[in-house]
Amino acid sequence: MQIGIDQLAFYTPKTYLDLVDLAHARHQEPDKYRIGIGQSQQAVIPVTQDAVTLAANAAVKIVNATNRDQIAMVLFGTESGIDNSKSAAVYLQRLLHLPGNIRTIELKQACYGATAGVQFAHDYVRLHPDKQVLVIGADIARYGLNTPGEVTQGGGAVAMTISAEPRLLNLDNETAFKSEDIMDFWRPLYRTEALVDGRFSENVYIDFFKAVWQNYQQQTDRTIADFTAFAFHLPFTKMGLKALRAILPEANEMQQKQLMANFEASRVYNRQVGNLYTGSLYLSLRSLFDNAALKPGQRIGLFSYGSGAEGEFFSGTISDQFDAQASRQWFTDFFDGRQQLTMAQYEQVFSQKLPDHDVLLDLSHDDARFVLSGIKHDQRQYVDRGH
Ligand code: CAA
Repeated sequence: MQIGIDQLAFYTPKTYLDLVDLAHARHQEPDKYRIGIGQSQQAVIPVTQDAVTLAANAAVKIVNATNRDQIAMVLFGTESGIDNSKSAAVYLQRLLHLPGNIRTIELKQACYGATAGVQFAHDYVRLHPDKQVLVIGADIARYGLNTPGEVTQGGGAVAMTISAEPRLLNLDNETAFKSEDIMDFWRPLYRTEALVDGRFSENVYIDFFKAVWQNYQQQTDRTIADFTAFAFHLPFTKMGLKALRAILPEANEMQQKQLMANFEASRVYNRQVGNLYTGSLYLSLRSLFDNAALKPGQRIGLFSYGSGAEGEFFSGTISDQFDAQASRQWFTDFFDGRQQLTMAQYEQVFSQKLPDHDVLLDLSHDDARFVLSGIKHDQRQYVDRGH
């Protein structure tokens, strides 16, 4: 029996910043951002969206009458949690009308949270093949105005269903992981912006990738020759390129070309959205599915990295039922219909923060189905405009 990713949907708001504008405003060469960092645009998240609404707007595309009652768990990966006690997953249960006999859990380990969800879901569905698990990766990446990390901001959500006989990716059972207490990137509870040791975090990412890649090969006897493509956690797309280059000499010349071409396919969407922390690897996987010419049976390697730090290398093969047509069209329409912000508008939206008292938010600039309408009695108020 094959188990893996059956559906993979994405949501981010329409508003975005062009990074040439950011480069000019910050007195940097545009090519530093476009080539040196590998980003062109970044999603700008309004105050009326949080991890819960981003997730609901993504998940509503893959939860419907045909699978709603099969969903046994919601595993919500995020480092942008909205409550120190309640999980973001339990809000989704209500917003998506999920059944009552369900587990709803939030998972946190920086950008690794959604991968923990995928792996736990894989194990669960192996024991309960008639069930599905809804896995979420939803975050808002914030470093602050005028910081080196600013160019790597972004946000959004991926939602995946993990099931038996999946239509996208059959997950392999073998997986290699590593954890170590490292201060490369962190966000104390009192801060809305992350703290990061930028260069150090890049080095730790590469060290973890090399360690788990080696461990995976020892476990499986597979080598780079067994892979058609790799998808990486992409905090900015140059980071994935650096990781790929670290192992590329292991491949022959023809395969190097194929891996590089597929890497380009895997960063098309991330380049235009920016970092979405724990969802980034899966947005990149979606980008690979939609923009590369993949065939059933081909093996994909996935590297997940969460600062602090945890890394995992795992793999899967393209499903016989694979079809990227509908998703590709959705992304084309989405990118065509986005709304570019000026620097002043971006700074204004970025600086808007939720107060710690009751408030009613102006929803007129947000066309999403699920929105945060305010705070009442210290409770976030969510609205579903689809009903
Ligand atoms: N044309 C082309 N390239 C140029 C250029 C130009 N005109 N000017 C500069 N560059 C290149 C530089 O040579 C450099 O390339 P390399 O990395 O290949 O050496 C690149 O552009 C970036 O330049 P700098 O190193 O000078 O950039 P910076 O000091 O301003 O900061 C950063 C870069 C450290 C990535 C910073 O943006 C940052 O801190 N980002 C957030 C942290 C992060 O994303 N870390 C990733 C690992 S941690 C993780 O993965 C978890 C997570 O999601 C956060």
